[in-house]
Amino acid sequence: MNVTLRVWRQENGDHAGRMVTYPVDGVSPDMSFLEVLDVLNERLTLAGEDPVAFDSDCREGICGSCGLVINGVAHGPKELVTACQLPMRTFADGEVIEVEPWRAGPFPVIKDLVVDRGALDRIIQAGGYISSPTGTAPEAHSVLVPKRDADAAFDAATCIGCGACVAACPNGSAALFLGAKITHLGLLPQGQPERRSRALGMIGQHDAEGFGGCTQIGECTAVCPKGIQMHVISRYHRDVLGALRHRDT
Ligand code: SF4
Ligand code: FES
Repeated sequence: MNVTLRVWRQENGDHAGRMVTYPVDGVSPDMSFLEVLDVLNERLTLAGEDPVAFDSDCREGICGSCGLVINGVAHGPKELVTACQLPMRTFADGEVIEVEPWRAGPFPVIKDLVVDRGALDRIIQAGGYISSPTGTAPEAHSVLVPKRDADAAFDAATCIGCGACVAACPNGSAALFLGAKITHLGLLPQGQPERRSRALGMIGQHDAEGFGGCTQIGECTAVCPKGIQMHVISRYHRDVLGALRHRDT
């Protein structure tokens, strides 16, 4: 395959960016999208040019670092995969493919396609954890969890913190991420002691970081590579309201 990449190049947050066109030939349909960026970068490096900066780590859909907007869609046109899992056979031979970073105020561009997603880490630091001792593995197994809750908590825990939901949301909201984390921990017995402080801490940090409010548009679920659904947002609303009621009484 031969493709033409139109890639967002931006020296850093203080400089304006622009799209730069790069033809890439000899692409295998079995390559992942990131492997095509690797091929491009090898050629740029050999030519003495600055390679395109982009994030990646696991390259198997686990770490959440490879956030790219491809042809206007967070993680690209294939559902339920991250950019690192996106095969080139998804595209037509000769296609022009646009590649941009996540676009959201709380995710400032560091360079080219790399943005700072530290805002999501700070939301986790504001309450997205369990601090009560859960004991050793046998002891943990002695805490019974209804199968339905265990399954729902596991589904929510598959959120990899990639930020695609924010990039797709017209409001720039991280509500789906927030909902996934609050649902994951709030469904487990070990998550109950801090349930109220967790909800208030995380939503407070979400707003302080400049993420927008959720107006139930649903663009987030269309791009989430892990299939997280809108009901997690209802659950976090319920936990926040419950915590506010408790605080005011
Ligand atoms: S909810 Fe989905 S899109 Fe949002 S951060 Fe988690 S995995 Fe990524
Ligand atoms: S590189 Fe880890 S999810 Fe893509």
